[in-house]
Amino acid sequence: MSDRDPRHDLGFDGPASARVYDYSLGGKDNYAPDRSAATDALGAYSVAHLLPRENRKFMRRAVRHLLDAGVRQFIDLGCGLPGKGNVHDLALAADPDAKVVYVDNDPVAVVHFQSLLHAVPGAIAVKADARRPDEILGHAEVTALLDADRPVGILMISMLDWIPDEDDPDSIVAAFRDALVPGGHLVICDFLGDNLTDADRATHDELTKRYDISVTFRSSERFKGFFDGLDLVEPGLVLAPEWRPDRPYDPPSGWLMAGVGRKP
Ligand SMILES: C[S@@+](CC[C@H](N)C(=O)[O-])C[C@H]1O[C@@H](n2cnc3c(N)ncnc32)[C@H](O)[C@@H]1O
Repeated sequence: MSDRDPRHDLGFDGPASARVYDYSLGGKDNYAPDRSAATDALGAYSVAHLLPRENRKFMRRAVRHLLDAGVRQFIDLGCGLPGKGNVHDLALAADPDAKVVYVDNDPVAVVHFQSLLHAVPGAIAVKADARRPDEILGHAEVTALLDADRPVGILMISMLDWIPDEDDPDSIVAAFRDALVPGGHLVICDFLGDNLTDADRATHDELTKRYDISVTFRSSERFKGFFDGLDLVEPGLVLAPEWRPDRPYDPPSGWLMAGVGRKP
């Protein structure tokens, strides 16, 4: 029998992005290191409290757009912990035959979704690494659930910024993009570096070092590359709250860029 402390396999000795987000959204599925990292970020940046909300609201508007466009299958990469208005809540309300695959490499996030979905036909959660697209697209549970000939909406909501450039996010996104059939969509919301001040960058470097995490802010030019070969849905690549708002919104943080691309 192994004498390894299983808590270490779950990453409870440091912050995990899903649980930091959960804490920032008022959730209960978080631990001391997550609360510490979230509190530091909230104290360091005046816009930090806006980010999870801008992000989740954009996700919901994008999913509704895809449903209106006829998409009935979704893969939510880096799904995080369940919250209010998850992808399957929206998709199954629109069509009880919709299919949703949640993917995360954080076992805590996956177990929470699996527990929530155990009696929900048409939605599953799998633990996998988004840096290995073939393993996800070829995963036995995924291929059994999704119809490869029908359009899929692939969501990357505050996920790519956790993949550093040395892991080649452009190739990762290209692999998922290439798997789309016509009518499939790619949805991305991520940290935008264009509006960061030097002081913001210095604080970011200090916090990522303190918590031993990697978070990458990318330029709007880099974002464009993620959508190569896709038709950008109007209004194109914009700050998250500006993407098809359905009601008046507070001034954007300026830190989250969002876009939706459709495979022609
Ligand atoms: C900031 S949270 C965002 C969660 C959710 N998408 C949302 O918008 O509320 C980032 C999520 O991406 C997941 N993640 C980061 N890198 C990943 C990878 N290589 N493969 C799969 N998931 C990853 C984290 O575990 C975490 O749950």
